[in-house]
Amino acid sequence: MTEDYDKRLALGKQRGSHGRQQDKGVLVIRTIAMPADTNPAGDIFGGWLMSQMDLAAGNMAARVAQGRSATVSVEAMQFLQPVKVGDEVTLYATLVHVGRTSIRVHVDVWARPRQSDNGQKVTDADFVFVALDKTGVPRPVFEDS
Ligand SMILES: CC(C)(COP(=O)(O)OP(=O)(O)OC[C@H]1O[C@@H](n2cnc3c(N)ncnc32)[C@H](O)[C@@H]1OP(=O)(O)O)[C@@H](O)C(=O)NCCC(=O)NCCS
Repeated sequence: MTEDYDKRLALGKQRGSHGRQQDKGVLVIRTIAMPADTNPAGDIFGGWLMSQMDLAAGNMAARVAQGRSATVSVEAMQFLQPVKVGDEVTLYATLVHVGRTSIRVHVDVWARPRQSDNGQKVTDADFVFVALDKTGVPRPVFEDS
């Protein structure tokens, strides 16, 4: 059983371009936090960050599933530092588990003030996706499992 998980994870990492993996994961999205993304206090809205994280994890899940997939859960999310307008926001994704139909991706988010070299981690979370067939029913990530 453990061998199956290891094999699926290795195959998934090939599909998810882990050849380009750095210490923090695969760089999937880099963007700039804009004034339209703020909360009433003037910092960046947590919901905007969560949306970017879902996009980053979903991007990797789509490559691993090689087809449609849906977010089924978001776990262990924590906000460590606020993100400010103008910050460069970078999202790194790491494939951590491939089940029969599910794909778990860890996302780390780093923010760098516009005029500084010092970025810091601002949030992270695990996203679980389920590979779906054309009718929206879960399907195996790999044909032979
Ligand atoms: C995704 C969906 C089709 C899964 O249906 P389901 O009946 O729960 O499917 P299953 O019970 O067969 O589970 C499928 C896989 O997901 C995993 N899973 C299900 N719920 C989970 C949860 N809450 N957390 C982690 N994994 C979960 C199962 O363990 C299983 O993994 P495995 O095959 O690798 O062992 C269904 O929940 C759904 O349509 N959800 C809405 C998805 C959506 O709209 N997302 C966007 C929200 S805006």
